[in-house]
Amino acid sequence: MKLWGLWAILVWLIAGCSAGGEKQPFELSGVPAAFPLPDSIRFMTEEAKARALLGRTLFYDPALSASGRFSCASCHVPSLAFAGGMDRNVGENSGRGRRNTPALFNLWWQSHFFADGGIPRLSEVTLAPMDNAHELNLPIDTLVRKLRRIPAYQQAFQSVFQREPDPFGVTRALMWFQLSLISANSPFDRWYYEKDQMALSASAKRGYALFISERTNCSSCHGPPFFTDGLFYSIGHENLNEPDTGRARISMSVQDVGKFKTPSLRNLAFSGPYMHDGGLQSLEEVLAYYNRGGDIHPNKDARIKVLGLKEAELSDLKNFLLSLSDTSFTKHPAYRPLGYRD
Ligand code: HEC
Ligand code: HEC
Repeated sequence: MKLWGLWAILVWLIAGCSAGGEKQPFELSGVPAAFPLPDSIRFMTEEAKARALLGRTLFYDPALSASGRFSCASCHVPSLAFAGGMDRNVGENSGRGRRNTPALFNLWWQSHFFADGGIPRLSEVTLAPMDNAHELNLPIDTLVRKLRRIPAYQQAFQSVFQREPDPFGVTRALMWFQLSLISANSPFDRWYYEKDQMALSASAKRGYALFISERTNCSSCHGPPFFTDGLFYSIGHENLNEPDTGRARISMSVQDVGKFKTPSLRNLAFSGPYMHDGGLQSLEEVLAYYNRGGDIHPNKDARIKVLGLKEAELSDLKNFLLSLSDTSFTKHPAYRPLGYRD
């Protein structure tokens, strides 16, 4: 566990001043003017910013786990676009969940959370890892009692929410921090929105043409600007050792067995391994999977079929996908507390 001086951060937070030009959540940099940011983000209120700042402290604090060893950031690592870096992460009680840790960004535009879309609100997502014996294993009421015993949190919650730490404040602060995670400054964005011809290689441009073509149909599910339509499909990928019914867990419909939420394709350079179970290790493996028409599944979408792409075309597609990676996001100091190192 990395020690990064929680108390220093909290004291700084309560003092309410920005030390040494430290970046704050919602201080966006490099987002193209044409990127569809709603005015509600551009003119974020000071109140929401203060909530996000408290949320950032909570996100990185291992006090949120039963053993004091795990925080949200143990699985959602900032340098990996807040993905986990392995097929499935280990949390409390040496447990591994069934699903891959997704990257976290552009959550403002998502209407369902988790691969099966089982959680409709971002403020509610927090409760899931807290209740899970293999993640944080610290129910919210126990956490709230713990935070009330820490004077710096007492003061921070009073200052931000005008009340002592409670489930409302914890879930809302974490929600605002996560809403502040906006990634829109990749080479692709500079080419597509800012018309910077030099931002993308010729190969990546050819890859984009293939991506939006009827030959591949990729963009019909993963279209710009978010590179996800937020809907649920089976592309045929299953984990045969630990079957996961996906969307059917929520809808109880046999037609939804094996369907998962379309993930965004931004920041793939950081967020592997891929798919709901982390079963595909590399982008080459993913592209080879699509090229052969995927695996057999009764609910597989008709668009997943043999593509017959040649080596050079696969390499163009890969270069395009990599052009969606935004290092200004993964390195943005506003998303890490003072002194945090990964
Ligand atoms: C032990 C690892 C682990 C920890 C700790 C953890 N998460 Fe997650 N997180 C996951 C996994 C795995 C999923 C995918 C769950 C699914 O799809 O069923 C996930 C999903 C999410 C999602 C949904 C993203 C999406 O696009 O659907 C959000 C938001 C999230 N976590 C936030 C948090 C927050 C906030 C915390 C801390 C309170 C946290 N996580 C702690 C592993 C973890
Ligand atoms: C019918 C909708 C659909 C089409 C068409 C489609 N995808 Fe996907 N894609 C998905 C879904 C759903 C998943 C998640 C599957 C899972 O988790 O098991 C996914 C996952 C991925 C992933 C893994 C992302 C991650 O973070 O795990 C990549 C990369 C990807 N698709 C690229 C492509 C490319 C390239 C094409 C075109 C060749 C394409 N997709 C066509 C729906 C689609």
